[in-house]
Amino acid sequence: MAEIVVALDQPNAGEALGFLDRLPDARWVKVGSVLFTREGPALVGALRARNLEIFLDLKWHDIPNTVAGAVRSAADLGVAMATVHTLGGREMMAAARAVAGGIRLVGVTVLTSHDAASFGCAVGRDGVEIGAEALRLAEEAAAAGLAGVVCSPAEAAALRRRLGEGALLVVPGIRPAGAPAYDQRRTATARDAAAAGATHLVVGRPITAARDPAGVLDQLRAEVGAGGA
Ligand code: C5P
Repeated sequence: MAEIVVALDQPNAGEALGFLDRLPDARWVKVGSVLFTREGPALVGALRARNLEIFLDLKWHDIPNTVAGAVRSAADLGVAMATVHTLGGREMMAAARAVAGGIRLVGVTVLTSHDAASFGCAVGRDGVEIGAEALRLAEEAAAAGLAGVVCSPAEAAALRRRLGEGALLVVPGIRPAGAPAYDQRRTATARDAAAAGATHLVVGRPITAARDPAGVLDQLRAEVGAGGA
């Protein structure tokens, strides 16, 4: 049953916590670099105090020793899931995995802001194909012992086939049927993303900008068959 992870993209802790007051049934939240850089561990503590599971999305990419130190710090904070960049390499991912404790680490493959030309430029190769690169990097993540990857809805089915049953697939770009796409180019409904094999659906504005956030969360849970659980 796919979990709905509410992306806290508010600019500060006051707004994030105020918003969550309107969403008492939330189970998972995503804290990214904007909010974490401003509010830090205190916000994570406040979210833990509300019994929320935290997806800390800081996309670490550094030398293995430094990334391992960041993962250790996150483990002390009690976060449930966190991201590293697969492009940091197998050694970096393995070092992170070795100290992850209870954190499920997922790898970012190809940023969705890249197209083939810009990714090819970054890695110094012509003729790259983004889908194939995402699969290749997901295999690197699996080989390093990560729990799974972050991917777009378009890649979820292929990654599920490639990584097998146990892998976590964390998928943003989720829109309720008929909802605006905002700036996302490749979106999917919660039902379709879950059917493609997603385990965690990251949803921001369809919930955070809704007049009735709790109603939208319920609707999304019903779509993936997790209503009321
Ligand atoms: O508002 P929306 O549902 O588009 O928010 C999706 C969340 O997932 C945002 O926090 C966004 O930064 C994040 N994300 C994404 N696409 C990626 C990686 C992360 O939309 N490829």
